[in-house]
Amino acid sequence: MSAHEIDVERARRETPGCAHVTHFNNAGSALPPACVLDAVIGHLQLEARIGGYEAAAQAHDRVERVYDAAAALLHCARDEIAIVENATRAWDMAFYAFPLGPGDRILTTVAEYGSNYLAYLQVARRTGAVTEVVPNDDSGQISVEALKRAIDARVKLISITHVPTNGGLVNPAAAVGQVAREAGIPYLLDACQSVGQMPIDVDAIGCDVLSVTGRKFLRGPRGTGFLYVRRGLLERLEPPFLDVHAARWIARDRYEVRPDARRFENWETNYATKIGLAVAVDYALGWGLEAIRDRVYRLAATLRERLASLPGVVVRDLGAERCGIVTFTAAGRTATEVKAALAAHAVNVSVSSRSSTLLDMDARGLTEVVRASVHYYNTEEEVEQLIRLVASTARRATA
Ligand SMILES: Cc1ncc(COP(=O)(O)O)c(C=O)c1O
Repeated sequence: MSAHEIDVERARRETPGCAHVTHFNNAGSALPPACVLDAVIGHLQLEARIGGYEAAAQAHDRVERVYDAAAALLHCARDEIAIVENATRAWDMAFYAFPLGPGDRILTTVAEYGSNYLAYLQVARRTGAVTEVVPNDDSGQISVEALKRAIDARVKLISITHVPTNGGLVNPAAAVGQVAREAGIPYLLDACQSVGQMPIDVDAIGCDVLSVTGRKFLRGPRGTGFLYVRRGLLERLEPPFLDVHAARWIARDRYEVRPDARRFENWETNYATKIGLAVAVDYALGWGLEAIRDRVYRLAATLRERLASLPGVVVRDLGAERCGIVTFTAAGRTATEVKAALAAHAVNVSVSSRSSTLLDMDARGLTEVVRASVHYYNTEEEVEQLIRLVASTARRATA
């Protein structure tokens, strides 16, 4: 095994869930390593023993570590990171801070996530700003050429999803970043499904804002997420909500918003999961994001190839670059039926439905797809087990 390769046996030994399930729902919520579990439980026990505020004070360094870990992961500074409860809240806190008015244009992608699109619709109603969907190129990723053609003085935000919830597509985030930089337009990247399964460098990508969740490919606790906001933009984005953590009340009619990214945070927060998130990010950094990506991409490519060889099964992933999310349909079986058939053998997959990525699903005439998302602790044998089960489910449907 080269230094670059993942020691799968060790990864599995350190993941208690591997003894119980075959987990291909890593894009839903991955199995946490034992160190994350121990960190969260340990802090809850400390809170119960000495008091919540007192435990937070005692664990101060472990709590603060999350900012350094997230900054190391994204290649940014710790004061550009806000820790919040999920990717949606991270994204919302930044998105709703952009001052938009009638006729302002937001450019987005076909595979945009449902919650983001709901926010575009709401902001359109409130402000008269319009959202325009940049078409895909022939591979199914956002067309960078079409994006360039769409740029004009009324474009106030480019907001795209890096990896969609419903497939292996990896949008060309850095090429989009180059267009955004050249045009001087703020660029918001939803990296919820990409961070943790591949290296991410906010400078190389050229994004100004990026949102992440903890529980998916980062293998952190549920109910965690974080936001990156470039320093130069921070002071221009006033959060949609303020509290005594985000701002200082300095006179009867005056307040001062804090200068760092923590202006997007809440005062009250879950300290145990914040510590757990720090441990999860450090754990990912310990394996190395290149090594993680290489294994995840390789396993997913094998899974796609094997699925495509099964009669009646159609792989639905788009894009020139494809990551660890593998989606498919099986003739004669709904995605929900396939998921249930696999669950009977303790094999976890999920179903991605129309409303999560409505534009993309409608454009392709899909109502739901089965989503099998791999992580580096999955084995080649597990992939074969999944293939056998899908094959037998599909066979019985067409018999
Ligand atoms: C592309 C994308 N963005 C955002 C989210 C929302 O993340 P969270 O549930 O952490 O708010 C998801 C969740 O599946 C997603 O797939």
